[in-house]
Amino acid sequence: MKLFESGFKPFRVPGNLHGRGQGMSALPGFQLPTQVLAARFPQDFVWGSATAAYQIEGAVDEGGRGESIWDRFCQRPGAILDGSSGAVACDHYHRLAEDVALLARLGIRAYRFSIAWPRVQPLGCGAWNETGFAFYAQLLELLSQHGIAAHVTLYHWDLPQALQDRGGWDNRETVDHFVSYAREVGRRFGGQLASLCTFNEPWVVATLGHEVGIFAPGLRDRALAYRVTHHLLLAHAEALRALRSDGVSCPLGIVLNLSPTDPATPAAADRTRARLEDGLLVRWDLDPLLRGHYPTDVLAWLGDDAPGFSASEVASLAEPLDFLGINFYSRNVAGADGLVPASDRDCPVTAMGWEVRPASLTELLLRLHRDYPLPPLYITENGAAFEDQRTGDRVADPQRTDYIAGHIGAVADALARGVDVRGYFVWSLLDNFEWAHGYSRRFGIVHVDYGTQERTPKDSAWWYSSLLAAHRARQVPGGSG
Ligand code: FCB
Repeated sequence: MKLFESGFKPFRVPGNLHGRGQGMSALPGFQLPTQVLAARFPQDFVWGSATAAYQIEGAVDEGGRGESIWDRFCQRPGAILDGSSGAVACDHYHRLAEDVALLARLGIRAYRFSIAWPRVQPLGCGAWNETGFAFYAQLLELLSQHGIAAHVTLYHWDLPQALQDRGGWDNRETVDHFVSYAREVGRRFGGQLASLCTFNEPWVVATLGHEVGIFAPGLRDRALAYRVTHHLLLAHAEALRALRSDGVSCPLGIVLNLSPTDPATPAAADRTRARLEDGLLVRWDLDPLLRGHYPTDVLAWLGDDAPGFSASEVASLAEPLDFLGINFYSRNVAGADGLVPASDRDCPVTAMGWEVRPASLTELLLRLHRDYPLPPLYITENGAAFEDQRTGDRVADPQRTDYIAGHIGAVADALARGVDVRGYFVWSLLDNFEWAHGYSRRFGIVHVDYGTQERTPKDSAWWYSSLLAAHRARQVPGGSG
């Protein structure tokens, strides 16, 4: 991901699907009713939306929460584009009931969120914080009351700072602490969850946090980054084994950010580089998780920076997954010398500067289906930042609707060709703290006024709501599907 590319350009995805209310739209650009799209998905397909603790909760000093590496990182001058932090964010900690009611109002019946480790175990080891667990117990209770399935992530980047002070993910003991934390969550909540995920995007944690240094903990050391990945994958596999031996029966898995890398031209040098970039981003995590070995071409490229491990240790990383979550935003394009930014290519982009190309999601899914022994897949994040304008109680965001509709169509194309995708979660329910971009990028289908904390569903939220209603209607005998 090229985080600081900008250069927003308006675009139109052909065949855009605007809709509202009954699945038909009064918005310009409407071409197909949401019923047509809904009909491309099986009855039990899961539709959800996603958030992450540090990006929405706020209340960083409340309820006995410990400091996280993101609290610390945000204090570093220049680390966050607008100088902000997640200290208040969407104030979700105090607006739990309102936010769950919002999900219910939109008809979203699956919610992916993360538990903040420092909220439930302030130092990352030792004492549990009952006030922190009570917050998540209340969230689960509210979700259950509204019939919304809970898809929980244990680690969406907010390591307790106390563990970072002892080496963080470079320290093998952090693996053991993570396993204890996973077991405690499993023991308390396992029976209430629709799924439990260990890590969100280990590539981002390792590479952006420890090699490039633009995410917490802000370190720049390639060898360290690859030791960190190895420890993250070990922590994942050991946690799965422990949860299973504890009898936690909900589906267990991991979420990866996967993007295909296409060569800029058919030239051999471009194709060779694209293969390496694919090794770094896709195969580096997927080969050990699904096949029990690291890709040999990447190991060779890393040379002395490759992590040390025994063959049995790396084989143990392939603990069976009940599901694999894929976060998809864009593709990469590689020239002979490295990735070519979208701003140097003539293509539609979002406010993040990420290319919009839904067909890449279909291509990725087909390729994974062909190359790997896959568990069931979920698209655990997909969405886009655009420069939204709120007018009264309306936010007209046709580009976001186009983006989401286009990618849902891309999932349907993969389903039609035999890929086992079970669900789709839009990123994000709310505008929120977008890491190094602070509050300058809005990914929500619901607008958040950070001055008043007022929530306003954008047109894309109503469109998504109408798609879900159309999908549900097909399941009711005599329904309009
Ligand atoms: C993903 C993250 C998520 C959000 C989106 C835009 O990499 O998992 O928290 O920041 O990008």
